[in-house]
Amino acid sequence: MTAKITLHKGDITTDAVDAIVNAANNSLLGGGGVDGAIHRAAGPELLAECRTLGGCETGDAKITKGYRLPAAHVIHTVGPVYRDGTHGEPELLASAYRRSVEVASANGCARMAFPAISAGVYGYPLDEVAKIALTTVDAALADHPEVVEARFWLFNDQVLGAFERALAGLGRHAHSASYQPG
Ligand code: AR6
Repeated sequence: MTAKITLHKGDITTDAVDAIVNAANNSLLGGGGVDGAIHRAAGPELLAECRTLGGCETGDAKITKGYRLPAAHVIHTVGPVYRDGTHGEPELLASAYRRSVEVASANGCARMAFPAISAGVYGYPLDEVAKIALTTVDAALADHPEVVEARFWLFNDQVLGAFERALAGLGRHAHSASYQPG
């Protein structure tokens, strides 16, 4: 596991990285959860740009500017809705994480930040999300060395705990820190 991955507790909209990742839906026209928080913080210009994108397939990712966010860009990805794990959910979730790193790389974003995609209203079991997220991003960073850092913003102790356990299980001592913007 690379040292380029760190875990943080709190609100991803506070992070001034080159790109934060949004857990969006296929329309890219906003929603609740982290998607709602990102659109509120970015302002209406974000929705205006999203309207030009023509939506996004599950497992794919598209980039916009960050507007009023401290982050320069938003990479909108769509994770799967969890049914029972036998409907391609693991592959689609891994694809959402991998495509987000690819889009960051293609747009010169050296530092990026992720939420726990699909772990909220889409109902994906937390421990599974954590394992897939960490292994997929670790492998994608190895393939894209121009992306030098990936931060995971975990919104509460339950989600943070799942990522800390998964990180420890992958053979790296859990590193958790709260990020001080600026
Ligand atoms: N910063 C970081 N994480 C957050 C924040 C925040 N500000 N707010 C919530 N989370 P969800 P999904 C956590 O439901 O499951 C939307 O309506 C949250 O606690 O946001 O992929 C979209 O439009 C959870 O751990 O995303 C889609 O329709 C994680 O972010 C749908 O929800 C993801 O929860 C996507 O569902």
